[in-house]
Parts: sequence; structure tokens; C-alpha cells
Amino acid sequence: MSEKNHKVLILHGPNLNMTGFREPDVYGKKPLDALHDAIKPEPEQLGVEVRILQSTPEGILIDTIQEHRRWAEAIIINPGGLTHYSISLRDALSSVRLPIMEVHLSNVHAREEFRRHSVISPVTVGQIVGFGGYGYILALQAVINLKAEVV
Ligand code: DQA
Repeated sequence: MSEKNHKVLILHGPNLNMTGFREPDVYGKKPLDALHDAIKPEPEQLGVEVRILQSTPEGILIDTIQEHRRWAEAIIINPGGLTHYSISLRDALSSVRLPIMEVHLSNVHAREEFRRHSVISPVTVGQIVGFGGYGYILALQAVINLKAEVV
């Protein structure tokens, strides 16, 4: 077993607990737990310790971000609908001064106009959209390679 050097917080916002049930043609047929099961081997391989939380209340996401400001090396977040309007969530993410990776299951840029704008993106290092649950694996690889020159 590899030594866990990296610590990454993964957050899912409102309605993502309904993944697999709501609009399966858009968000996929796998429930959130199944996405987590698919993600689990990756941290082990990469030597990453992950903590994962889904919350519908915005305040719980904000509290969790603040509580993990010293523990986490990076945060991966799918803010759900909060992506498009939550200045409080954005402020919480920018205040902890950690690399933030934004993930969306669907390709938000190919959907309704209001989903194309993210108030979160300006405080992130990047955005991964449209790859379903695999986006979290890509995000993990990306955040742990942030300091490495990979190309
Ligand atoms: C989402 C996209 C958002 O626009 C939407 O409100 C969600 C899910 C995604 O993962 O594709 O709840 O973040």
C-alpha cells in the first residue's frame, strides 16, 4: 500500500444525492454511491487520502470547506446549482487559498444558457465537465499533478 501523502476534499452540492435517479440521460444512471465506489481505487493508487461529502444545505458545504482549510491540499467540488449563483460558496473557496477543481457530471456548456456561467470558476485552477463520474478521477489526477511538470 502506498503512503498517503496527499489529502483531498471532494464535495458534492445540492441534488447530487439524486444522481442516478434524476435526469439519468443527463447525469447518468449510477447513483452517487456507485460513483464513489468507482473513485475509491484511484486515491489508493495515487497515494491520496480523500474525504467525501454531499450536502444539500449550502452552509454545510461552507463549514466543511473552512474546517478543512488546514487538512486539505486541494478541493474538488461539484457545486450543483450553486455553481451559477452562490457568491458565498465562491468566497469560502477563495478564502482557504487551496487549489480548487470544479467538476460537473454533464457538459454544462452544451446545455441551457444559465448553466454556461459559473461564479465558482474564477477561483478555481480548472474545470472538468461532461465526463460523468470519471470527471472526479480526472480531477484527482489533475490536483495531485499540479506541482509536477507533466508535459
Ligand atoms: C451539475 C450541473 C448544474 O448545472 C446542475 O445544477 C447540477 C449538476 C453537473 O454535475 O452537471 O445540479 O453540477
